[in-house]
Amino acid sequence: MYATAFLDVPPLDHANGPVTLPGSKSISNRVLLLSALCAGTTHIHDLLDSDDTRVMLQALRQLGCGVDVQGTSVSVKGLGGRTAHQDPLTLFMGNAGTAMRPLTAALAVLGGDYTLQGVPRMHERPIGDLVDGLRQMGCQVEYLGVDGYPPLRIGQPTLNIPHPIQVRGDVSSQFLTALLMALPLATAQQAITIEVVGELISKPYIDITLNLLARYGIEVQREGWERFTLPQGSQYRSPGEIHVEADASSASYFIALGALASERGIRIHGVGADSIQGDIRFMDAAQAMGAQITSGPNWLEVRRGAWPLKSIDLDCNHIPDAAMTLAVMALYANGPTTLRNIGSWRVKETDRITAMAIECRKLGATVDEGQDWIRVHPLPAGQWRAARLHTYDDHRVAMCFSLAAFNPDAVPVRLEDPGCVAKTFPDYFETLFSVTTPRPGRVPVLCIDGPTASGKGTLASRLAQALGYHYLDSGALYRLTGLAAVQAGLTLDTANENRIADLARTLPVRFDGEQIWLDQVDVSEAIRTEEAGMNASQVSALPAVRAALVELQHSFCRLPGLVADGRDMGTVIFPQAPLKVFLTAGAAERAERRHKQLISKGFSVKLEDLRADLEARDARDRNRSVAPLVPAQDALMLDNSSLSIEASVEQVLSWWQGRQPF
Ligand code: C5P
Repeated sequence: MYATAFLDVPPLDHANGPVTLPGSKSISNRVLLLSALCAGTTHIHDLLDSDDTRVMLQALRQLGCGVDVQGTSVSVKGLGGRTAHQDPLTLFMGNAGTAMRPLTAALAVLGGDYTLQGVPRMHERPIGDLVDGLRQMGCQVEYLGVDGYPPLRIGQPTLNIPHPIQVRGDVSSQFLTALLMALPLATAQQAITIEVVGELISKPYIDITLNLLARYGIEVQREGWERFTLPQGSQYRSPGEIHVEADASSASYFIALGALASERGIRIHGVGADSIQGDIRFMDAAQAMGAQITSGPNWLEVRRGAWPLKSIDLDCNHIPDAAMTLAVMALYANGPTTLRNIGSWRVKETDRITAMAIECRKLGATVDEGQDWIRVHPLPAGQWRAARLHTYDDHRVAMCFSLAAFNPDAVPVRLEDPGCVAKTFPDYFETLFSVTTPRPGRVPVLCIDGPTASGKGTLASRLAQALGYHYLDSGALYRLTGLAAVQAGLTLDTANENRIADLARTLPVRFDGEQIWLDQVDVSEAIRTEEAGMNASQVSALPAVRAALVELQHSFCRLPGLVADGRDMGTVIFPQAPLKVFLTAGAAERAERRHKQLISKGFSVKLEDLRADLEARDARDRNRSVAPLVPAQDALMLDNSSLSIEASVEQVLSWWQGRQPF
């Protein structure tokens, strides 16, 4: 999960391999609410863990459901058609349409005193047609802000169900879904018919609803897409256990990835061609553009077919969310691609037609748009621009545009607020990077070096955090080697050079956040002692040991980038690094910092002794024959004697920014 201000995706070359996708958002939130409306407990497997499902889970807890979350398995003890709650309750819906709409309907039918609100964007997303439908039947729903939009206040209904209930279907199919899930609760006395006014959009989402209702004991009679009847006496029955399919909309990015960049294939686990999710039909659109797709039970495999991709002209009403991915694929096509009947894009997480048009243009593309369509012209080699892309707090915008990094001009792509993918796919970028290979030599590396106690470790790890990059603490590798050698009973001198080098080459090391494991033992503390530092210093002076660690150090250079700290990072290990920084804090300041550090750990040491030690060590480090402490020729000097750590980070980030094309 990237919580950084932006993520720079380096130019990508190709992709191959398996991915497992998180559960479908649409299925997850429906299943949660349906389970809540049953009596008894439902065990849900492979539930999506994301912002939107957390919103729903929190609301259900507040309503009095028993909720037990164990990773992606969740048990919900249902309300059995009653709310356990008497007091006024405020429920926060974030920006989750799949929670806001169905909960509004269910709570309006059940009755109580509820306030439903969300983030500012949620208060701009229409809900008037649903409220009109609910009011027709005697539900009490008031607008607390602007008419037609959340926030809402829900009261006690006096149900008097008209025949039929009418609801508009041309703004969001979620209104119909919401009524279909709420109204079984009101069928004790009579059957209920819902009639859709206007052309129903996003029909496949209604199919998901009907499919899941059937799993929960509700058989809806459907006449075309206009009339839906819930039989008298409909009653929710828990299926006991239910599995959530992987998200077909999320699959669209990996289907596109296969079509764009995979010779051997991207194998997608968790969803197959027979999925109940409408967005699985994105497959057909991708095939029309040239993708080669095979499928089996719960999997898809996609590779490149036609290249360049073939342009298409497509009515996308049936795949509104996944169709955004086509807009980015269109940049790689042999002619203009037109996506039609996508008016619903304008009322989603953001106005998606405008957003996609603006961001494609930043890359250099020509885009035409209308009220409910968009046309994206291909972007030929030589015309791609390195762009800083805004993501509008819209997970799909962010995921779509990551695919721009396969451009033929090998320009990187900067995505703002990459964390917004948490709405449906918190590990999207990690999953993407796990199967993609960057253009050779294009993973950015930032090297930090400097004398002992100069604060290079802290600076480097903060930079890595700010950029979302990996972090290589090369000193730790020498410390680990020293520890492994001591544990093997070796003296740390030239007599054992080759044996220590062998140990270094095959170090059973695992880095896990702040923790470092050597052969199943957590050695994070053990390698930080003064003695471990001395041992490291000794083994690091053995040329064969240094050579043995080269490969391990190179292996840290992975997407999306690396911050490497230590002696020869910029000179030997990553000489091509685009930014090298050498810290030059004075010995007095460094001694003071180290002094504070040791005191805080409960060691009593004299400042003067520390300073003398540091100066001696500096001299030794500068003059040693193997890997002496010298700045790389192209390193920038940073005297951080009187700089706070934040100021040092800012300074290096601004140098870094100065070397980026954005
Ligand atoms: O940075 P740290 O104190 O953890 O480094 C431990 C020892 O390893 C230092 O004495 C340093 O000389 C050595 N070292 C090295 N090359 C590196 C990193 C550390 O020789 N790249």
